[in-house]
Amino acid sequence: MARPLHILSPKRNKRLQTGWEGFFPYYAGFPELFARELLQSAKLPQGAIILDPWNGSGTTTYVASGLGLTSIGIDLNPVMIIVARARVLPPSEADHLRPLAATILSHARSATLTLDPSDALLGWFDPDTAAFIRGIERNIRRSLVGNMTKSPEAIHLDKISGTAATLYVALFAACRKLVAPFRSSNPTWLRIPKKTEARVAAPNITVARHFAANVRSMSAALAAKANADLLVADAARSGECKINLSDTVSMKLGVDSVDFVLTSPPYCTRIDYTAATRVELAILGPLLSKSARALGKQMIGSTQVPSAPIEVEEKWGPTCAKFLDALRKHPSKASRGYYYRTHLDYFDKMSRSMERISDALKPGANAILVVQDSYYKDLHNDLPKIISEIGEQHGLSLDRREDFHLRSMSDINPGRRSYTRPSGATESVLCFVK
Ligand SMILES: C[S@@+](CC[C@H](N)C(=O)[O-])C[C@H]1O[C@@H](n2cnc3c(N)ncnc32)[C@H](O)[C@@H]1O
Repeated sequence: MARPLHILSPKRNKRLQTGWEGFFPYYAGFPELFARELLQSAKLPQGAIILDPWNGSGTTTYVASGLGLTSIGIDLNPVMIIVARARVLPPSEADHLRPLAATILSHARSATLTLDPSDALLGWFDPDTAAFIRGIERNIRRSLVGNMTKSPEAIHLDKISGTAATLYVALFAACRKLVAPFRSSNPTWLRIPKKTEARVAAPNITVARHFAANVRSMSAALAAKANADLLVADAARSGECKINLSDTVSMKLGVDSVDFVLTSPPYCTRIDYTAATRVELAILGPLLSKSARALGKQMIGSTQVPSAPIEVEEKWGPTCAKFLDALRKHPSKASRGYYYRTHLDYFDKMSRSMERISDALKPGANAILVVQDSYYKDLHNDLPKIISEIGEQHGLSLDRREDFHLRSMSDINPGRRSYTRPSGATESVLCFVK
């Protein structure tokens, strides 16, 4: 009989986010330790392929790579592709980062850039600050984004070098710090300032210092990681890792080609995954082929109403059908309109994605999904149960389920205080087998 999988709590723990990890604090990820214990306990054979179709900040690809396993990470948000790519930068690159950053900064200082008036950075920054940030970005792009990444039709972010990705992450963090006044009580949300509101005006020296300090700390953390790795006598060779910009609804993966899936699907709590990375998307503007709005619409969990009508499908299972029916009949305003339609969009995209994941899995292989329940007003959205049923409809069997109680929910639902509902949320680890 196969050895049981070792499942730790998937709750985020800020204290564990130090060193190299501390630079990838994107929300909604599961901890590195959770992924490592699980992958190690799976005792996968050499050459096995691990897939995370909603890779986010790339915890799965990072851990798999450290264990010498081959992995594929998919995400639709270009910011997450850059972040996940930077995270697997080999420690041998640590020494190159600082001199590169110094050259990039000196070029940015010496040439004044004429900013395109439609540059998205102007949403948060005054023209001079935006122009200097764009100057740094342009120099990262010009010196490090190679010709392999660019083609006449598009930029292939998947091919961006780890070094370029790391310098982008350093610039992301510098800008995040500068736009802190526009963060709300929800840590993942960054608002766009009103037309009349003052934009951030920071002297070039401040922007340059933030950027350089981030690069310095990243280089030191990576070097420290290299030293720690050397202490492990038989440190595994880093596993090959592919990070692809793709939509799980339409992704193309070989049938029966994947040995293990470890992932956490987008939540159904009206989290706008692009709003959380607005400033990073603005920085990446020249590398993007799609507007942030169009990207937001394509995301699973989108807060935009789908263009075409969607019908409830039997393959979403009975729990989903019951929940949607109750939602449609809910007396509160906009339930039968906006909220019903955005929920239909979520389940439609989830079901299509689960079908693709199931097709890609080898018979007998496991898929582990970390899923959180939530409330719509007073209605329980039992997402773990719904996803279990959707999986079963697409040829997966639920082998095991472990529940963990969370004190607070990743929730930005309006009016949550006016309804009675239990506090916190349940995060479930669903173990499927094909
Ligand atoms: C819960 S997060 C995953 C977090 C990840 N486990 C980590 O450690 O950071 C879900 C991810 O799904 C991505 N996503 C949403 N819709 C998608 C789609 N249609 N195709 C691919 N990725 C999508 C979001 O950009 C987000 O990064």
